[in-house]
Formats: sequence, C-alpha cells, structure tokens
Amino acid sequence: MLRRTLLAASDSDRVRHLITSAPLTRDVVARYVAGDSAAQAAAVTRELLQRGLLASLDYLGEDTTDPEQAAAVTAEYAGLLSQLAAAGLAGGGRAEVSVKPTAVGLGLAEHGEKTAAGNIARICAAAQAAGTTVTVDMEDHTWVDQTLRIVREIRPDHPDLGVVVQSSLRRSVADCAALAQAGSRVRLCKGAYNAPGEVAYAARHDVDRSYARALRVLMDGPGYPMIATHDPRLLRIAAAQAELGARSPDSYEFQMLYGVRPAEQRRLAGAGARLRVYLPYGRDWYRYLVRRLAERPANVAFFARSLVSSR
Ligand code: FDA
Repeated sequence: MLRRTLLAASDSDRVRHLITSAPLTRDVVARYVAGDSAAQAAAVTRELLQRGLLASLDYLGEDTTDPEQAAAVTAEYAGLLSQLAAAGLAGGGRAEVSVKPTAVGLGLAEHGEKTAAGNIARICAAAQAAGTTVTVDMEDHTWVDQTLRIVREIRPDHPDLGVVVQSSLRRSVADCAALAQAGSRVRLCKGAYNAPGEVAYAARHDVDRSYARALRVLMDGPGYPMIATHDPRLLRIAAAQAELGARSPDSYEFQMLYGVRPAEQRRLAGAGARLRVYLPYGRDWYRYLVRRLAERPANVAFFARSLVSSR
C-alpha cells in the first residue's frame, strides 16, 4: 500500500522537492548509484569485476521528451561503451549496458518508437564493437508492446539483445514463452511500476507465484535466463530449477541491484554462479531512487513520516 502510494505521489513537485532535499537522501543515493559520471561508473565496475562479479551499467534518466536529449543519451552510452572497452572491462560481456526505451525517445510525441529503435540499434552497434551486450529495461506497462516490438526488430542484427519481463504483469508467462528461444537473453524481475488490476497482480504472493511460473518457462527453454531478484525464496527456487534441469552455471545468471544484498551477491559469485550487478550512474537519479525506496518498507515509512510532518 505504502509502496503504491509513494510511486503514485512521486510525480508531484512537492514530493520531488521533499525527497531531493531530505537530509538523508544523499546517503541513500550513494548506496544505490555509482556516481555522476561515466568515469566514476567505470571505476566501480572495475571493483565489481575484480571481486568476480559482472555488471550492467545504466545511465540514469527516463521519459525524454526531446529528440536531441534522446540522441545525447545515445551518445553517452556509446562513449561509456568505448571507455569500458578501452579499460578492458567490457570484453566477453563482463560489463554490459541496460537502456530504458523512454530515455532514448520512446515517449516522444512524434515517431517515438522509430526514434527509440534507431537509438537502441546504435547502442547495440557500439556494444558489439566493445565486445559486449545490451539489455532493454522494461518500464511502465503501457510501453510493453512497443518495447517488445523494438527488440524483435533489432534482434535479427543483434541476437544477443536482452529484454526484461515483469512478473507483476498478467501477461508475463505468455511473454516468457514467446521469448524462450535459443540464445534469447531474458531478464525476469518482479516489476517496479504501478499498474491497474486488469493488467497486473496486486498481491505480492501473486507476483511471486507468477515469477516462479515465468522462471520455469525460461529455465525449461533454450534461452539464457537472467534471474533478477533479491528474494531469498525465489533464489532458492531458481537454484533448484537449474539443478533439476541440469543447467550449466554459464547457461543462466543471477542479477541484483547495486547496493542491495551485497553480501549475498558475493556469496553467490563465490559459489560459482554468474552474478551481474545492475549499476546506475548519472545525475538524474530521482525516479530510480523512488522505486528503490518504494521496495523497502523502512525507507517508505521514513519518507511518509517526513511528508506528514512537513505539512
Ligand atoms: P522484493 O522486493 O520482494 O525484495 C526481496 C528482498 O530484497 C527484500 O526483503 C529486501 O531484503 C531486499 N530488497 C529488495 N529491494 C530492496 C531495496 N530497494 N533496498 C534494500 N533491500 C531491498 N524492474 C522493472 O520494472 N523493470 C526493469 O527493467 C528492472 N530491471 C531490474 C534489473 C535488475 C538487475 C534487478 C535486480 C531488478 C530490476 N527491476 C526492474 C526491479 C524489480 O522489478 C524489483 O522492483 C526489485 O528487484 C525488487 O524486487 P525483488 O525481486 O528483489 O523482491
């Protein structure tokens, strides 16, 4: 309930001001975000790789309304990928990138889908030159069809383009079945956006059950599942499914967010699993931060109390 309220309230200027100016916010940002610049993100990537982890870097920003900004985000990714390659961090897909379609133009008033597809294809070409891959994040449910169309359009040229499925959506099992093809990289997560009851499960246990069903489809298929969760029960289910299906440790990977359960990240990697850390950087951290706060009841309660006391 608090989670849905915080996500819904985050559009208000008043809430944005409250969160961005709260004394504790800087510390919370530093926990979840690698820094402002590509150089800072590359430095954190190096540390993660040295500890045996993998990384997927995300240049923060979304809901771009201007084609020039979409082009600038694309150029930022291309620059980041060449920096990672020059530093020897990208080869073999050790550090890849994650891209939000609305950051590269999907939401533009005109030709949004075409612009986003062109920009994502450019980022894929830069990733290929760097020896690594791209994963397309999934945003609000209203973008799912267009995002999947873009991925289908680009995959003939870049078959390793990854995409995300959110188990909170009722369509997730069907989407996983359609995506579970040889070589198909699919990241399964619970979903971080509010959505109405017709399209999404509201109860957490329904989202979790849907996750387990979708995971079974991916793990039984010939693709490359990317299991993005910190939930201990779902991690155990994934490990059991991998064992039952006799999957080799390099035929799937676990993914977790930078700053969330770091000891578990190191434990899984130490036990021989492929563990990729989702690593955001950049100044536009507000919406990313709100989603992380909304996932953590203690943080939600803190900000809810601030809201009440500031009235
Ligand atoms: P859940 O929220 O139930 O958390 C399980 C446990 O993990 C908690 O009890 C707590 O211990 C810990 N935890 C979780 N979140 C925490 C936090 N913020 N701070 C501290 N502890 C926390 N979503 C989306 O809609 N589109 C996308 O493209 C992506 N991409 C993505 C990539 C990767 C690599 C990950 C890990 C996640 C995403 N997500 C996402 C976010 C995802 O949908 C979901 O919101 C979060 O992962 C939290 O869900 P969990 O599965 O971890 O379970």
